[in-house]
Amino acid sequence: MSHTITVLPGDGIGPEVMDVALDVLDAVSAKFNFEISRTTHLVGGAAIDETGGPLPQETITACEKADAILFGSVGGPKWENLPPDIQPERGALLPLRKHFGLFANLRPGSCHSSLTHASPVKNELIPDGFDVLCVRELTGGIYFGQPKSITTLEDGDIEAIDTMVYRKSEIERIARVAFTAAMGRDKRLLSVDKANVLQNSVLWRETVIEVAKDFPEVELEHMYVDNAAMQLVKRPASFDVLVTGNLFGDILSDEMAMISGSLGMLPSASLGKVKDDGLYFGMYEPSGGSAPDIAGQGIANPIAQILSVSMMLRYSLGEAAAADAIDAAAQAAIDSGLRTGDLYTGADGETKVNTREMADAILKHLA
Ligand code: IPM
Ligand code: MG
Repeated sequence: MSHTITVLPGDGIGPEVMDVALDVLDAVSAKFNFEISRTTHLVGGAAIDETGGPLPQETITACEKADAILFGSVGGPKWENLPPDIQPERGALLPLRKHFGLFANLRPGSCHSSLTHASPVKNELIPDGFDVLCVRELTGGIYFGQPKSITTLEDGDIEAIDTMVYRKSEIERIARVAFTAAMGRDKRLLSVDKANVLQNSVLWRETVIEVAKDFPEVELEHMYVDNAAMQLVKRPASFDVLVTGNLFGDILSDEMAMISGSLGMLPSASLGKVKDDGLYFGMYEPSGGSAPDIAGQGIANPIAQILSVSMMLRYSLGEAAAADAIDAAAQAAIDSGLRTGDLYTGADGETKVNTREMADAILKHLA
């Protein structure tokens, strides 16, 4: 079996964590007998420096030919003062999502019981850690709705407009992804909206309730987004899968990342069309950013990027056994007390390691 992927390391810590994540990918491909054909391309600030724009056509073309995109991270202070449309985030990430129809963003927000000390949530509230999956709609809502403008009015005042649009079909397909995810987990789904104010949310809630009929085993709950933001901090361990629109998902997934205490551990998947082989085309990236403050030092936590490889194997390449092996090896490395700087506390049993050492430990567990 052979798979084609496009690798986009990007900026900041992207290249260095990508480097070791690809070693892990090579190790599982040898162990589980599949081939990976991969090419590496420019994106983000690295692409701006080299070509003048954050998303060269050549990069898009390479992604179009692949089964999946493995993404590092983009952005950094060097490009922050460019016009918004050509900044790495708005000029590369959003167009990639839209171009490839990556409508379903899966963002795990979990905190293993051995890492609860890193969470800002009172540890007695999460004695066994927690494991929430945020399913965020990624190509609709207020991010992309038209019109979008800033106009000077006749009276001299200035008006900005963003438009929030959701079609029933868009809500239905993201709800199906979320219910399906819940079926593979604890069969509980929380749908987050603002149905007491927004028409979009009224349709959202109605549609989710309709889709629920196809998943009678899943226990469905609804919550307004303000309340959900509060409950997540108060009792993260009581949630299983959460589904919400683009803007609310952006905000809540950052909240979840923060309460999980270890941004460097969290992968993500952005899924698009189902390919001919029945698997999703997808883009896989760490939830954290490019961390320019520690870039180039070889000390970043590579686990988010390595677990992004695992999600890619699972959702886009159909190599579930290899994905399971990576998840188990990363867990074993953490269980053995290895910690990169982001998680190191100096407690008994912890060993401080750098990017390469963490990856080597994971490779050893894989062997
Ligand atoms: C994210 C980011 C992006 C978003 C930005 C960089 C455009 O915050 O992936 O959550 O808002 O979706
Ligand atoms: Mg965000």
